[in-house]
Amino acid sequence: MKTTLICFSGTGNSYYVANQLAQELGDTQVLMMTSLLQNPEAELTEQVGFVFPVYKGFPPNLVMHFIQEIFADMDLSPVKYLFMVVTRYMFIGYTFQAMDVVIKEAGALCSYMNYVQMPDGFVPIFKAPTEPKIGDLYTKAEAKIKAIASDIQSEAIKLPFRPPFSRLAINHIMPMIHHISMDYAQDEFTVTDACTSCGVCYRMCPSENIEMQNGKPVFDRMCTNCLGCYHRCPTQAIVFKKQVKPGRYPNRRSSYNLEYRS
Ligand SMILES: Cc1cc2nc3c(=O)[nH]c(=O)nc-3n(C[C@H](O)[C@H](O)[C@H](O)COP(=O)(O)O)c2cc1C
Ligand code: SF4
Ligand code: SF4
Repeated sequence: MKTTLICFSGTGNSYYVANQLAQELGDTQVLMMTSLLQNPEAELTEQVGFVFPVYKGFPPNLVMHFIQEIFADMDLSPVKYLFMVVTRYMFIGYTFQAMDVVIKEAGALCSYMNYVQMPDGFVPIFKAPTEPKIGDLYTKAEAKIKAIASDIQSEAIKLPFRPPFSRLAINHIMPMIHHISMDYAQDEFTVTDACTSCGVCYRMCPSENIEMQNGKPVFDRMCTNCLGCYHRCPTQAIVFKKQVKPGRYPNRRSSYNLEYRS
């Protein structure tokens, strides 16, 4: 059975999970949502899965946008089994329910939803994870990914508990959070003199939210909040205007070094 994993990743956790899952499943292609947004030419297979993180209790705005604008227009006729694997640290919120709604609107049905716990690089709230903590979570994740692969191979059905106030959260709170998130980089980031104009942030931003002006990054208002630029800047030149928890999460374990622009 051929499988397609469609992945979005900010700091590399979901990218790692998608690739590990692909190895376990065999005969699997991993496609990145940002690349498909740029060029939607892709053939779907009998099994299709979405792999992405939870941001503030919901799917990232880019993931919702991808389902509505790209997935909804793809040829879904080969797809027999659709699933999602979410990466999160501790709170999944309304992520499954929000995705379920938007996938149904796109004309498909999700049969299986599960999550993998991964390190959290959301430094406005948590300290960047330490190496031992990262190692521990990655080791536990390996076992969970194997169990999820086995479920997918047997085309298991697993639908999560529906938390209270789902409709209210999805219809009213999520759009508000996404709206605020889009301004995030422009409102929260500054760039220090440590910037070497290497352009990594410009090339890797999954929302194409960064332009280079006079050799320095300038942030627009289409941020998806992934913090990839903050964590992956080689000289730590991107900083928050307001004081936040210390540390960076370059996530060397995931080998996530994709760049979406040249
Ligand atoms: C902006 C932001 C918001 C987050 N919100 C949540 C959350 O609500 N619940 C949670 O458990 N983890 C949360 N996290 C942690 C991520 O879900 C987790 O680190 C995920 O594995 C990141 O995947 P990625 O590296 O593929 O982007 C958040 C991370 C970021 C950057
Ligand atoms: S990644 Fe860092 S050093 Fe490179 S251009 Fe961006 S801010 Fe400057
Ligand atoms: S500007 Fe930074 S935080 Fe916002 S989407 Fe781009 S890489 Fe992610």
